[in-house]
Amino acid sequence: MKVFAGNSNRLLAEAICNYLNVPLGRATVRRFADQEIFVEIQENVRGEDIFVVQSTSFPTNDHLMEMLIMIDAMRRSSARRITAVIPYFGYARQDRKPGPRTPISAKLVANLITEAGADRVLTLDLHAGQIQGFFDIPTDNLYAVPILARDVKENYNLENVMVVSPDVGGVVRARALAKRLDCQLAIVDKRRERAGESEVMNVIGDVTGKDCLLIDDIVDSGGTLCNAAEALLKNGATSVTAYITHGVLSGGAVARVTSSKLKELVITDSIQPTTAVQSAHNIRVISTANLLGEAINRTSAEESVSSLFD
Ligand code: R5P
Repeated sequence: MKVFAGNSNRLLAEAICNYLNVPLGRATVRRFADQEIFVEIQENVRGEDIFVVQSTSFPTNDHLMEMLIMIDAMRRSSARRITAVIPYFGYARQDRKPGPRTPISAKLVANLITEAGADRVLTLDLHAGQIQGFFDIPTDNLYAVPILARDVKENYNLENVMVVSPDVGGVVRARALAKRLDCQLAIVDKRRERAGESEVMNVIGDVTGKDCLLIDDIVDSGGTLCNAAEALLKNGATSVTAYITHGVLSGGAVARVTSSKLKELVITDSIQPTTAVQSAHNIRVISTANLLGEAINRTSAEESVSSLFD
């Protein structure tokens, strides 16, 4: 097995290699003057089981293109099998037609990855599970919930914890964590009663005196999260912490989170944290390296990956 990385998340790729006790494969991924991407694999990969680690995070299109070109280079270098390891799968929120004459970009990206020459995909907390079906090659969608649950157990008195979904769409994810922790579940229901009126946040469940844990797959602008936190505190919650797999944190999101009433935002390293994230007083990053490393190990050994979540 050999593990290679693009430029999106080298720290995570190195940590994965550390877990696997293999060196990170040598490859040059650089730009020509006109910003075209050039890739050169600097070691033999003929007949090898190759894993290319790359999150399609900001700048999404550059990182996506890097991954496609790396896969192409591997294929043309006679790799035996190529697995695209995509800790954060960008474009995932464009998984349906929101209106007439709009694309399904997540499907297009899946087609591009397959067409480039990937034989398998290994990813983490896809925005919607059915995106797995956009790929006609084997796709493993790992769950961060065991890592998040372990962190909660280390930091919270479970008797007072309430798991909360920040919107109705996230209930299945939140329920999975609540079940693991054997905690109660509440839901923030965001509703616009009439067009032009501002949204009303209704909390379903009694959160009075509870340490609320908001769970979601993505924090992007931070709007969903900070609004839900406000609503929970208004409804009597003692504290609000958020556990979110992918810290997209675009625009002024880090400032929004640091100036919010959130006790803490816990994200994973599926997207490489920026310096702003690293220095934020209430953002903490936990690693997915061992989970991804173990999944790579098992994929290579043709062992069960789903049993990682038993
Ligand atoms: C939406 O369906 C996702 O699960 C997240 O709730 C959303 O992407 C968060 O976005 P933002 O942080 O911009 O509110």
